[in-house]
Amino acid sequence: MGCVERPPRSLNNNMIMDVVVEACGLTKHYGAQTAVGGIDFSVYRGECFGLLGPNGAGKTTTLRMLMGATPPDAGELRVLGHAIPQQAREMRARLGVVPQQDNLDPDFTVVENLITYASYFGLRGPQLSRRIDDLLAFAALEAKAGAGIGTLSGGMKRRLTLARALINDPDLLILDEPTTGLDPQARQLIWQRLRALLGQDKTLILTTHYMEEAERLCDRLMIIDNGRVLVTGSPAELIRQHIEPHVVEIHGPGVDAWYDGIGHALVRRGERVGETVFCYTVDDRPLLDALSRRPELRFMHRHANLEDVFLKLTGKELRE
Ligand SMILES: Nc1ncnc2c1ncn2[C@@H]1O[C@H](COP(=O)(O)OP(=O)(O)OP(=O)(O)O)[C@@H](O)[C@H]1O
Ligand SMILES: [Mg+2]
Repeated sequence: MGCVERPPRSLNNNMIMDVVVEACGLTKHYGAQTAVGGIDFSVYRGECFGLLGPNGAGKTTTLRMLMGATPPDAGELRVLGHAIPQQAREMRARLGVVPQQDNLDPDFTVVENLITYASYFGLRGPQLSRRIDDLLAFAALEAKAGAGIGTLSGGMKRRLTLARALINDPDLLILDEPTTGLDPQARQLIWQRLRALLGQDKTLILTTHYMEEAERLCDRLMIIDNGRVLVTGSPAELIRQHIEPHVVEIHGPGVDAWYDGIGHALVRRGERVGETVFCYTVDDRPLLDALSRRPELRFMHRHANLEDVFLKLTGKELRE
């Protein structure tokens, strides 16, 4: 395919050997609206690839095209060596999906949901029983095997959806916001499980609105907005390329006047968001010295992170 970029340096040679997804000029319109506006990207075997972007950026539409659920209007797409959508059926035998909205069958129990899904892949008998036992353990749902879906917590439903996605032992797992709405414990458990899958050489493509999650899990990220790619790179690369190393968030009485009079000259870049001034700087000492003389101002000094990159590139205004 014509648009495949050179493999990124952040990947080791084993990963580069296998291209799992190649997308060139991938495009999807809904009426007059462009949901995905001609994007190019590649995903390599064994990596965790994160797709980030504000609400409505085109993440779910992109994933749905990858899994053969929505036909692209233009572009070329290969997933696991198969042309999509033409060979989506063959590809799906090696794919697992955790959709953005849970679509477990509410009339069935936990185990029945797994059995029904397994039947699409022709799995049955003792092999299936063993697989279900393993997956219930993996999802920490052994005690809920016979429970109705309505009795599960949000975290349990998400874990069951992950277990279901693994029923066919897929090579590629697509996860659309796997931890949205979960408490910190439930999220940690999912992270642990996703890391275990990466350890088994599976390839993960996930979307998330939690920048900490993306920073912790993903080898590489692509930030999209309005259906276009803004940047691609490892979390550390993106932070280094786009944000000064030190960030000081300042608020308190008179912060605006202080920033206009003194603060702005001590930083590389400053931004006002609500009542807080975000100061980005390479050398933090002059700024911290100045702040030590203004005890009424409260501040938090931290390292630059992925959220800074995301907000800089996609803007700070609310998306509806
Ligand atoms: N079936 C559809 N019919 C019409 N418009 C759609 C459809 N699906 C998505 N869109 C539009 O396409 C754009 C991209 O939507 P998409 O669901 O891909 O965004 P997203 O990045 O997943 O957002 P979120 O973070 O809110 O899940 C949005 O403007 C959305 O309204
Ligand atoms: Mg979405």
